[in-house]
Amino acid sequence: MMMMMMMMMQRLRRSEEFIRFGCKSLINLRPNKNSVSRSVSGFVNHYDTKGRLFESKNGNHYNTELHHRCLGRNLGMLQQYKCFGSSSASQIERNPLFSSLDSKDVSYFKEILGDKNVVEDEERLETANTDWMKKYKGSSKLMLLPKNTEEVSQILKYCDSRCLAVVPQGGNTGLVGGSVPVFDEVIINVGLMNKVLAFDEVSGVLVCEAGCILENLATFLDTKGFIMPLDLGAKGSCHIGGNVSTNAGGLRLIRYGSLHGTVLGLEAVTANGNVLDMLGTLRKDNTGYDLKHLFIGSEGSLGIVTKVSILTQPKLSSVNLAFIACKDYLSCQKILVEAKRNLGEILSAFEFLDNNSMDLVLNHLDGVRNPVSSTENFYILIETTGSDETNDREKLEAFLLKSLEKGLVSDGVIAQDINQASSFWRIREGITEALQKAGAVYKYDLSLPVEEIYNIVNDLRGRLGDLANVMGYGHLGDGNLHLNISAADYNDKLIGLIEPYVYEWTSKHRGSISAEHGLGVMKANEIFYSKSPETVAIMASIKKLLDPKGILNPYKVLPHTLFSH
Ligand code: FAD
Ligand code: MLT
Ligand code: ZN
Repeated sequence: MMMMMMMMMQRLRRSEEFIRFGCKSLINLRPNKNSVSRSVSGFVNHYDTKGRLFESKNGNHYNTELHHRCLGRNLGMLQQYKCFGSSSASQIERNPLFSSLDSKDVSYFKEILGDKNVVEDEERLETANTDWMKKYKGSSKLMLLPKNTEEVSQILKYCDSRCLAVVPQGGNTGLVGGSVPVFDEVIINVGLMNKVLAFDEVSGVLVCEAGCILENLATFLDTKGFIMPLDLGAKGSCHIGGNVSTNAGGLRLIRYGSLHGTVLGLEAVTANGNVLDMLGTLRKDNTGYDLKHLFIGSEGSLGIVTKVSILTQPKLSSVNLAFIACKDYLSCQKILVEAKRNLGEILSAFEFLDNNSMDLVLNHLDGVRNPVSSTENFYILIETTGSDETNDREKLEAFLLKSLEKGLVSDGVIAQDINQASSFWRIREGITEALQKAGAVYKYDLSLPVEEIYNIVNDLRGRLGDLANVMGYGHLGDGNLHLNISAADYNDKLIGLIEPYVYEWTSKHRGSISAEHGLGVMKANEIFYSKSPETVAIMASIKKLLDPKGILNPYKVLPHTLFSH
């Protein structure tokens, strides 16, 4: 056995398939150019003067009728809404109880915020009204930029008294249409609230304002020798307040757990302007109900998060990243089980993508190449983070050799330096951007038992045939599949084949229809696929308690019919 291992090791070294890299900071390993910012999304649609979409920047043509409905139609007294690529977000009516903005409102906001933080400029509103994917589009006439909690409180108090609906917005990188208005809701963006308030180097607790960009927090912590417990492809634009409000998962959840564990406290403002100070910094505090959890993942429907206290982690000296290829999904599962068992204490990411996702990235992103020489059906990224360079590296190498020996892995490389590691991450993190560039994308974000994850991809492929390109990637270590369907355009035939099929399939396997992106407007009406009516009824009561007039992010998260007039 020992002999065989040594021979294997020699083979690998000789073939230079596996290459080593040394102690590098994880933060530095992640590619900066990969971060999302609106300016790099590269997917701008063109509209004619009547708001009909005729061609996107990448040359795809879209169904103009569908788009027209997306913008909201005036049907006599009622306004209706329909959006791309989601059957259930269609046919929402504007709640007639909401007031419409008038000039006195604007004057009031200018009084409390100053002229420059009351945005009426059409171009800036166009951006703020449109989500990252360019699928959801509102028609707000006003964006407010508060500078502190007191201003947020004054804004909400006023809006509540006037029955003006609002949408809290962070970096606007959300993928379920939650961060943009459905109709004319006032946008409240907390981007100016971006100060680090405190950092305790003993406990690792960071306290900051909600508008801090995730990547800026990571950079700040790097100087202190710490890292954020979460990391995602949108880090260059998303806010910590948005992360908390969506309970974002990302690439490190397998190691550091969800924000329900790492967020120690927060401050939030409810619809009537009340400021809830829950900004604790303690790891343990069992005094009554832990209300902060209501705001983690409630997508701006219960209050505006204004400050966050979060437990960060020491930056460890040894980081290794392997990119491996596997023939079949069963092998991916087995590698996951083995990785948890053999790399447990150093495992910091376990991500996967299928060959369709790889092809898409290779075809649509510049300067990307497949790090392994052979084309395979599946690829896995395994990252380890630890404190013993020699030991960690040997552990990973031994693990990969064993997997190779068992026939679970057909090829693989270990990043040799930061640039190589960045190029591996670029493949996995670039899929979302590549999908945007490829045309229309129908996105699903499912939690499923790991053994079921790829069955739904195969089933959907069979169901859609040549109509679309179905791909699967995601956070395999967390049982989270990103099921994406890429097609030339958005059309009713395709959506009819996908929904409710995907939701029913997920529900039948006791999965969740939203693992990490939230429900937003896309899936608000689908909540019953993952939650019982009794649970949803209690959620609705909580919503009514904290926001009796329903002004906070209406039509999102919960079925809007529960709150309609
Ligand atoms: P926004 O998009 O602005 O808002 C999202 C929701 O939160 C909305 O409902 C909004 O109303 C609410 N909200 C925002 N700020 C506040 C606040 N201060 N108070 C109350 N409510 C608020 N998500 C993951 O979970 N994991 C990933 O790996 C991941 N990767 C991504 C990669 C790319 C390329 C992109 C484009 C997106 C990705 N996302 C991922 C989705 C998205 O980035 C996350 O949901 C992120 O947490 C949203 O943060 P944001 O600041 O952009 O929030
Ligand atoms: C990811 O893991 O890449 C993100 O959640 C974004 C996506 O699902 O495309
Ligand atoms: Zn994800």
